Amino acid sequence: MIKRTLAITAFGLSVISAQGVQAANSLNVVCGAEQSWCDLMARGFSDATGIDVAMVRKSTGETLAQVRAEADNPKIDVWWGGTGDPHLIAASEDLLQPSGVDTSDLLGWAQNMSRISEGKTVGIYAGALGVAYNRELLAEKNLPAPACWKDLADPAYAGEIQVANPNSSGTAYTELATFVQLFGEDEAYGLLTEIGKNVNQYTKSGSAPSKAAARGETTLSIGFMHDMVKLASSGFPIEIVAPCEGTGYEVGAVSIIKGAKNLEAAKQWVEFALDAAVQSRSVEVKAFQVPSNSKATVAPESPDLASIKLIDYDFATYGSTATRERLLSRWDAEVKNAPKN
Ligand code: G6P
Repeated sequence: MIKRTLAITAFGLSVISAQGVQAANSLNVVCGAEQSWCDLMARGFSDATGIDVAMVRKSTGETLAQVRAEADNPKIDVWWGGTGDPHLIAASEDLLQPSGVDTSDLLGWAQNMSRISEGKTVGIYAGALGVAYNRELLAEKNLPAPACWKDLADPAYAGEIQVANPNSSGTAYTELATFVQLFGEDEAYGLLTEIGKNVNQYTKSGSAPSKAAARGETTLSIGFMHDMVKLASSGFPIEIVAPCEGTGYEVGAVSIIKGAKNLEAAKQWVEFALDAAVQSRSVEVKAFQVPSNSKATVAPESPDLASIKLIDYDFATYGSTATRERLLSRWDAEVKNAPKN
């Protein structure tokens, strides 16, 4: 049997090596999904190929910043996971390179990412945005349960809502882009500013607010429903709301960085990440996104995207540099420091 070692350094860097197998080379991966899924993927890839994987978890906006900063001398080979818009932006800025992988088994929304980016990124999973609340805190504080995005502007929720910062978090950028697509830009910023009056903290990572709601550190959170389902199915007192106006969704993506030092291993990773059997293993770590391979098993707990009122999210527009810069500047100017209720 292959003996594996997993070392977590003080910087959160996991190095996974398959001892006893002649390592062809090594691979540097930045992972944008939850840590447990990152670790499962790194171990699975290392076991299957004998290639050592050095992996670090980062939020999507942070990874985009790193890929830009290292354009002349990339340290990352593969960017796996995280919301798709920043992957598309990196592709359009010529920071990624095509993997040449066969996408014929993938669902339409996953192939769409490849089409928009001319093969430089491809979809690995999808998930919808929603609202979670801690039912025990809500009852204790005698607060109403929200049903719609607009309900979150109710001053009764002062200090009770947590959400991530869209500069660092792909989850929060998806929320910002969703509001703009649902309500139009001016109304979206008006509503985000009103909701902002109730926000107790803008976190760096997109799943942190729902974890805080699960632990009772905030009453409400905005985030991806599959992250909330993971918490609810782990026994936390979380209720999940699909907002009445409709909601946006992410297509998580995998990309090879242009100039990757370990190109062959990087291509193997992309193939591995799109494999039906590999995607079906996500349930082992309660990663309840919808897998992109049409032959992968969808966990029964996965939010059913067909029964949620989804917007027709415009990935080409919201995955462009100009749109993202404009939306983030306006968010910084109008929402981030809005006065509190
Ligand atoms: C969680 C979700 C992923 C999502 C990611 C984005 O890990 O499970 O589906 O892609 O958040 O992370 P970020 O910190 O950039 O919002």
